[in-house]
Amino acid sequence: MPLGQLPGNTPMKLGAAALCLCLLAAAVWLSLSMTTSESSGGGGGGGPGGGKKCAPTPLPRADVSLCRNLEVSYPELGNISCQVVPRCNMYRRKITNWPQPKVKYPAALAGADLKTGTIRGSVITDYGPPTPPPTTGLHRYQFFVFLQGTSTIPAPPKQNGDRGAWEMDDFLRNYRLPQAVTSTQFMTEYE
Ligand SMILES: *[C@@H]1O[C@H](CO)[C@@H](O)[C@H](O)[C@H]1NC(C)=O
Repeated sequence: MPLGQLPGNTPMKLGAAALCLCLLAAAVWLSLSMTTSESSGGGGGGGPGGGKKCAPTPLPRADVSLCRNLEVSYPELGNISCQVVPRCNMYRRKITNWPQPKVKYPAALAGADLKTGTIRGSVITDYGPPTPPPTTGLHRYQFFVFLQGTSTIPAPPKQNGDRGAWEMDDFLRNYRLPQAVTSTQFMTEYE
């Protein structure tokens, strides 16, 4: 399945923006997750004996390198970019049932859809929610935006079945994708 085409002779720049949304979609759908050490940060709002604050907490320091100007919002929880999903309110369970997050890149130069988080184009791999298994600590869910240029990216058959087997490095090399334009991640764990 070829990646989405824009109607008519839309200028290249916008085309590229829309196409990279497809890619972004791919990254989101694959929900690249990697286990991290149990000791790293985490937890969530609602500390003992305090107020009822239930808000995401910032990522552990070692995990902020991907934090750039990309926003990822789930219903109810809001912007989770660069944050750890809090334990309170059953958010960690709920995130598994919520639909795909809205992903916005407010700093996009061309491509209004990127700015508003309205994804257009073809989905390469359907969205899969975070499903971190028990006793594996916090997992990272990473989002990247790439400029696709003119290459066509076919639907990779095996990815739907086993997203854990997906190799991002290979993917980038195969389709000659340059460095990510922007990125972010959030973390959550089994609850
Ligand atoms: C979303 O969260 C990130 C990381 O905390 C922050 O930099 C960004 O400003 C937030 N965006 C909005 C619209 O709140």
